[in-house]
Amino acid sequence: MKKGVLLGIIMMMVFALIGCGQASSDQASGGDVQKVVVATDAAFAPFEYMEKGEIVGFDIDFLDAVMAEAGLEYDLKNIGWDPLFAAVQGKEVDMAISGITINDKRKQTYDFSVPYFQSTHMILVPEGSDIKNANDLIGKKVGVQNGTTGQAAVEKLLGEENENIKKFENNVVAIMELLNGGVDAVVTDNTVVNEYLKNNPDKNLVGIEDPTNFESEFYGLMFPKGSELKEKLDAGIKTVIENGTYAEIYKEWFGSEPNVDVLLEQQ
Ligand code: ARG
Repeated sequence: MKKGVLLGIIMMMVFALIGCGQASSDQASGGDVQKVVVATDAAFAPFEYMEKGEIVGFDIDFLDAVMAEAGLEYDLKNIGWDPLFAAVQGKEVDMAISGITINDKRKQTYDFSVPYFQSTHMILVPEGSDIKNANDLIGKKVGVQNGTTGQAAVEKLLGEENENIKKFENNVVAIMELLNGGVDAVVTDNTVVNEYLKNNPDKNLVGIEDPTNFESEFYGLMFPKGSELKEKLDAGIKTVIENGTYAEIYKEWFGSEPNVDVLLEQQ
């Protein structure tokens, strides 16, 4: 990275000296901005998912607004959930957005932006299931996306090594397994459960809330430790929340006013 910049500077000087008007590479031109590389797992509607070959979702519109505010250009890469953590840690990408919950465990390895969305967990079950709350999951086969806070929430109830916890690469496959009868329930983020129910009324599934067992969480942008992007994007997030852009995007996706006070309180 640093070598590239240095090389760029040297080449620019050379071009200036020899009076060459046109630079031959992106780095040498100096006019092209370096794009921020952002990773995501686009199988998490309504936050990020694929539609007609494009990554769309609330997170994507939010990211776009924050990046514009910070004056940064970016490239979004759909690389999947587990790879995303490795890629941010290894600095193969500059950051990630993916409905990622900020928690103490992850904070040991990553830096997070200020929170931009409040979430909790919900249980998705077939209509007529005898599961009525989180405690009823004990003794049942429960599907989760591997490495999520949903998995952690279920482990808290069923025990960490419990074989009844079935871990899937993403939520789409977890829900497919529920429809096929391979698991009795799926536990994931409440907004994702509600979106699925809204879009799939024919699947005869129901969503169960359990605020006693499922804690409130907040999503943040995730960076490698020490990233300089955090400060810039925190400022961008605060601005889009305060100037009403956040509320506009939120209303487009959820049809209601967001509770921005709860987000600002966290900052
Ligand atoms: N909020 C949960 C977590 O951080 C689940 C996020 C899953 N996001 C995704 N794009 N698959 O663990």
